[in-house]
Amino acid sequence: MTSRKVVVLGTGGTIAGRANSGSDNVGYKAGEVSVADLLAAVPGMSDRLRGCELVSEQIAQIDSKDMEWSVWRALQQACLKHFADQSVAGIVITHGTDTLEETAYFLHLCLASVGQGKPVVLTCAMRPSTALTPDGPQNILDAVTVALDSRSTGVLAVCAGAVHGAQHVQKAHTYRVDAFDSGDAGPLAWVEEGSVRWCQSPLPAEENSGSAMAVHIEPWQAPRVEIVMNYAGAGDSLVNALCSMSTGAMSPLKGIVVAGTGNGTVNAAMQVSLESAASSGIQIALASRCAKGGVVRASPLPDGFRTYAGLSAVKARVRLMLELMMSATDIKDR
Ligand code: SIN
Repeated sequence: MTSRKVVVLGTGGTIAGRANSGSDNVGYKAGEVSVADLLAAVPGMSDRLRGCELVSEQIAQIDSKDMEWSVWRALQQACLKHFADQSVAGIVITHGTDTLEETAYFLHLCLASVGQGKPVVLTCAMRPSTALTPDGPQNILDAVTVALDSRSTGVLAVCAGAVHGAQHVQKAHTYRVDAFDSGDAGPLAWVEEGSVRWCQSPLPAEENSGSAMAVHIEPWQAPRVEIVMNYAGAGDSLVNALCSMSTGAMSPLKGIVVAGTGNGTVNAAMQVSLESAASSGIQIALASRCAKGGVVRASPLPDGFRTYAGLSAVKARVRLMLELMMSATDIKDR
């Protein structure tokens, strides 16, 4: 009988970072150590695997601030390939913390219904692998534990002992090792000494309608969607500049996500420029710059405007891009 496998896909990040001194937790280069070497340095891994095989594949070696759609595509393809292997119980992805939430949400939209409920677990570290007390090895061990837990499903993120769902997870701290938060939703579970204590159910795969469609998008060409923020004195100049740039050498602008003030509001001049952009076919998504809560609308939105319940601006951008790629807006609200 073939043994069960956990596949670990490496993409770089601080978890794979190297500094010149063990006491330096910030002056390091991310994406230096291979995923195979990271796994070899995790104490207690064979106990945790309980006879399962651990397989690794290096997908990228980057600082996640430089994350690109091509890497997301490669990750999606790698997940599909490994899920086609019946012996794969789950997939772990090592990732930088800075854009982990975007990758998690992208995979949530594109993959979750594909792996027959098998989990994809992203993990990371706030300290480089060379730190006096690196957090990466524990996070990897916890992520493998979650990947093998029979209740795990969908796309999850594991950091500092907490398990978050892809929809709500957000980097909330610049420095602390417990850098992630799920806002009002809270974490789904905690990993404690090799056991997963669930507080909420992960989103079942069947709630990811629309996901399977996204897997087959061809050609894979990301539409240009930019994010603008409303702030005191913001005015309309950025929106106007974006709209005029779309006629130049850059790929044409297809969407604008607004990180609005409070409940997704924008200043009066920006509202006029956004409505003008919408009338020329540019899709506008309203999100909020607040760390918690979503945009709650009482009145109908102007034509060409939309909101996504509870999504941050960066996740709203991922979703709008996928919807534009699919030329459909029927991904169920989640
Ligand atoms: C990165 O996101 O790749 C660098 C920062 C980190 O992983 O904490």
